[in-house]
Amino acid sequence: MKDNPKDPENLYSTWTFPKVTICFLLLISFSYISYSMKFLHPYLCTQQSQSLNFQSHFSTPQSADPNPPTSQEHKTNISHIVFGIAASADLWHHRKNYIKLWWRPDQMRGHVWLDQPVKTDPKSNHTLLPPFKISGDTSGFNYTNPKGHHSAIRISRIVSESFRLGMKNVRWFVLGDDDTVFVTENLVRVLQKYDHNQFYYIGGSSESHLQNIKFSYNMAYGGGGIAISYSLAKALEKMQDSCIQRYPDLYGSDDRLQACMAEIGVPLTREKGFHQFDVYGSLFGLLAAHPIAPLVSLHHLDVVEPIFPDMDRIHALQRLEAPTKLDSAGLAQQSICYDINRSWTISVSWGYAVQIFQGISSAREMELPLRTFLNWYKRADHTAYTFNTASVNRHACQVPFVYYLSNAFYNRTTNQTTTEYVQHQTRMPECNWKMANPSRIHKVQVHKSSDAHLWDKAPRRNCCRVFRPDSKKKGTLVIEVGVCHEDEVVKVW
Ligand SMILES: *[C@@H]1O[C@H](CO)[C@@H](O)[C@H](O)[C@H]1NC(C)=O
Ligand SMILES: *[C@@H]1O[C@H](CO)[C@@H](O)[C@H](O)[C@H]1NC(C)=O
Ligand SMILES: *[C@@H]1O[C@H](CO)[C@@H](O)[C@H](O)[C@H]1NC(C)=O
Ligand SMILES: *[C@@H]1O[C@H](CO)[C@@H](O)[C@H](O)[C@H]1NC(C)=O
Ligand SMILES: *[C@@H]1O[C@H](CO)[C@@H](O)[C@H](O)[C@H]1NC(C)=O
Ligand SMILES: *[C@@H]1O[C@H](CO)[C@@H](O)[C@H](O)[C@H]1NC(C)=O
Repeated sequence: MKDNPKDPENLYSTWTFPKVTICFLLLISFSYISYSMKFLHPYLCTQQSQSLNFQSHFSTPQSADPNPPTSQEHKTNISHIVFGIAASADLWHHRKNYIKLWWRPDQMRGHVWLDQPVKTDPKSNHTLLPPFKISGDTSGFNYTNPKGHHSAIRISRIVSESFRLGMKNVRWFVLGDDDTVFVTENLVRVLQKYDHNQFYYIGGSSESHLQNIKFSYNMAYGGGGIAISYSLAKALEKMQDSCIQRYPDLYGSDDRLQACMAEIGVPLTREKGFHQFDVYGSLFGLLAAHPIAPLVSLHHLDVVEPIFPDMDRIHALQRLEAPTKLDSAGLAQQSICYDINRSWTISVSWGYAVQIFQGISSAREMELPLRTFLNWYKRADHTAYTFNTASVNRHACQVPFVYYLSNAFYNRTTNQTTTEYVQHQTRMPECNWKMANPSRIHKVQVHKSSDAHLWDKAPRRNCCRVFRPDSKKKGTLVIEVGVCHEDEVVKVW
């Protein structure tokens, strides 16, 4: 739900400070508060002119609680989640396609919260999307942030408005944007770890250090998805409207939520699979070396390049469907192994891509995302990420050969999944190392047993092993991915 930083050129036209003695960082961050985004801003809605209906926000009748705490006989499943998706009529026509990618109308509950009604396209099947709700009037709330938009208040209140619907058997409210794609199986896996009867506020930070300085490291970024336990939502609903009044100067919806969480005293529970993706460029580096945590969400999909090359954004995301169905827990999980005879280092991001590097690199290098992406603050360099990264400017021989997912299926004979990855044709720089060249490998085939319980255990990277080259399958590298054997580690000697 964060906007883009404004171009640095606009800095001086917007901000006229009398003194030059402002610290450099401060100057930078102020410039980024200035947003000029018209088309990236998802929630440009005009201030509503309806008469103020303020009282109703405060005097919601609280009848008997439809969700009394129960003994936990059943593990949390998808039916216990109520989604609240922030959308605007302006962008709905385009953004609804992201929601269709993950929404399962027969299994999921929740709503798309709009600023005003949208025309439904008779050609598109609306039963494939969550039902609409029009957000309550927020014109009685003051919004004084000069850079953001009043709609932030509307979006912040989605959790309270969802709560007031009084739906039954709810354990979690999960908020997201209309350009958020959830891997819902993994969302459920994460939420299963937490007791919804307690107060939990779960999500992720921004990838950008400066963004977290400006907003907060204590804040769950809305676009990456925010999970709020039922009990916390209940407590929040009672105070959110008055709380929002105390922070008219905040920018967004998620910093308003965080302000209220701080008043309640609930910290952010950070989960590494929630991705705000405050970056530009290619997500490749991030998805090829994902943290050892279930992949829960992807965001800013209109901002970054399609996740597979030579495809549009929606089709690229659709490509993840097959591996997600086969083994959602393993999606984009990295494993690292060596082809000792050919001196190659291989990194598998299961269901997404495989990289072959010439030479032997250690696991601690390979687990760092390659900086194929740019900082949200375009002038900030790699020191402004919240995690370690590796440079893409490497020796010509150390540029990886990249293979993207092309096929995924289940082999009944072996009871394993097979995923295939084909070489992405790019001109590789001249390399003068005298060693086997991966350019002859056109396809990588990965065998893996699906492992729905991967995340029931302590986190550990899977291991991979390279099969001996098969003369009948020239040009194909065959790899097995799975739970590490006893004492198996990523090493050469
Ligand atoms: C989810 O759990 C509920 C119990 O709260 C159970 O009735 C339902 O069958 C479960 N649904 C699925 C899809 O497992
Ligand atoms: C819309 O999708 C639902 C669920 O898949 C299906 O049952 C229904 O037949 C579809 N309607 C149309 C008009 O395609
Ligand atoms: C909004 O701001 C105005 C001017 O500062 C103030 O008079 C009014 O009480 C505020 N309204 C609310 C609901 O806080
Ligand atoms: C499934 O596995 C068997 C045994 O390894 C193999 O012979 C067969 O070709 C595989 N099927 C497919 C479709 O790859
Ligand atoms: C197939 O593999 C899954 C784990 O991936 C396992 O749970 C299941 O028991 C296996 N089925 C057979 C018939 O071996
Ligand atoms: C590497 O070479 C050895 C000896 O020739 C052979 O036994 C082994 O299978 C080879 N391993 C791979 C992965 O090619």
